[in-house]
Amino acid sequence: MSAVSSRLPVFPWDKLEPYKATAAAHPDGIVDLSVGTPVDPVPALVREALAGAANSPGYPTVWGTPALRDAIKGWLEKRLGARSVEHTHILPVVGSKELVAWLPTQLGLGAGDQVAYPRLAYPTYEVGARLCGAEPVVYDDPTELDPTRLKLLWLNSPSNPTGRVLPKDELVRIVAWAREHGVLVFSDECYLELGWEAEPVSVLHPDVCGGSFEGVVAVHSLSKRSNLAGYRAAFVAGDAEVLGELLQIRKHGGMMTAAPVQAATIAALGDDVHVHEQRERYAARRAALREALERHGFRIEHSEASLYLWATRDEGCWQTVAHLAELGILVAPGDFYGEAGERFVRVAFTATDERVEAAVKRLAP
Ligand SMILES: Cc1ncc(COP(=O)(O)O)c(C=O)c1O
Repeated sequence: MSAVSSRLPVFPWDKLEPYKATAAAHPDGIVDLSVGTPVDPVPALVREALAGAANSPGYPTVWGTPALRDAIKGWLEKRLGARSVEHTHILPVVGSKELVAWLPTQLGLGAGDQVAYPRLAYPTYEVGARLCGAEPVVYDDPTELDPTRLKLLWLNSPSNPTGRVLPKDELVRIVAWAREHGVLVFSDECYLELGWEAEPVSVLHPDVCGGSFEGVVAVHSLSKRSNLAGYRAAFVAGDAEVLGELLQIRKHGGMMTAAPVQAATIAALGDDVHVHEQRERYAARRAALREALERHGFRIEHSEASLYLWATRDEGCWQTVAHLAELGILVAPGDFYGEAGERFVRVAFTATDERVEAAVKRLAP
């Protein structure tokens, strides 16, 4: 038996454990800013919808209920400005991480094919390429890649870890290049609702895709937008042919979103108030941490959107991690996201107001 796990990168979070222990020894406790996991409550209307659908004895479908697809269509049109969305342009997934990890396999990619993603990126794009035996390739500008063997191009705007947003004209240029070369574009837009100094644009916006979804798919998640990471609620939208194929495969694989989660997703997509409230919480935490880090001698780059500050003291990231751990603050080293991040740390602002305040005090010069 050949171990598939041997193809995968070493799970990097183990390397952070000693620093976590140091931070946890702080007399006032750890401030963990190393992961982007929501900490605020699930909105009441979403919990009520989940509970209201608790009596769901039958199997759900992979494609989801028509009501779920209607809710997604409504959101795509209203929030992203997408036009002429049909149900065939929509596919629910069980949180977006599983989609990212298994997409290359489900697209039938393998040895000889290439999957490309940003030089600094969420590690699961590489995992997905390696799971199916395709070659992972990083880029600074995707249009400089050799398209010959390139089958799947990942975009991620706003970016994890840098918070960078791709301007609309960049997206237009990249989508045109990919279409010209027959390269499928998957655009991971799970932080789209979290723009601070930039307004993220979707690949499904008519100005970018020209009103046709051919060769483009957007990935969206409710984990960050609606504090639903624990529910596993996400969807993809775009090219009907690609999604039709994925639907067939995912039906055979039993990749169904739980019925109560489908009901909760409908409620969450139909409400903007909780999104606004959650944004306000994050905006305050972001401003406080940003100021405290800058006063402490950090420089912040990009970070115009998402849930992270991309920060450097112009030293190796592990030195910075060690320094902050002594103050009881845990952050993620930039090299978790690619070698190019080796002089940065990623500081998540997904911590309670009380913990953010504690971090701000500890960072005071
Ligand atoms: C860029 C990016 N894509 C996808 C995900 C996965 O999110 P989820 O599986 O909760 O939808 C994350 C999670 O942090 C992420 O940062």
